[in-house]
Amino acid sequence: MRGQDGTDAATRASTPVAFSVEQLAEVHRLQGLYPDRRAALLPVLHLAQETFGYVSLEVEAYVAALFDLTPAHVHEVVTFYTLFFRAPKGRHIVAVCHNLSCHLAGAPMIVAHLRRRLGIDVGETTDDGRVTLQSVECLCACEHAPMMQVDDRYEFGLTPEKVDRILEGLR
Ligand code: FES
Repeated sequence: MRGQDGTDAATRASTPVAFSVEQLAEVHRLQGLYPDRRAALLPVLHLAQETFGYVSLEVEAYVAALFDLTPAHVHEVVTFYTLFFRAPKGRHIVAVCHNLSCHLAGAPMIVAHLRRRLGIDVGETTDDGRVTLQSVECLCACEHAPMMQVDDRYEFGLTPEKVDRILEGLR
């Protein structure tokens, strides 16, 4: 399994972190849209994630320099949002809602089932790169609890059996 803790150091060391000229122009365009250019930090981080695959500490430092921010400031933003990945992510993202309605309806049991079936913990990716497992805040489908997001679709009314069928469909 791969975690969020820098286990990809060899990859990071060999991959230069730099936007293209066109991407830097886009960064400047985004920064010019707002009275405070820091408002463009999120879209630039998304651009960085698309470009480099995930937001490593090196990417955080690179983006921080583009905004005259400290790397720690960017790190706080990256670690706040579950849409940013700090290690290579799986081909599929399985994100179980752990907020109140889902929790009361059985989300902890669903997460435990997924951990067992996938052999990974929350925040980790299977060795074959198939699935990254996340536990996230409310996904705004509380009436269908417990639920989760699998890539770009919602899965409602989860049971262990339904989770198994969903996992079988992920290649
Ligand atoms: S609490 Fe799970 S979708 Fe809102």
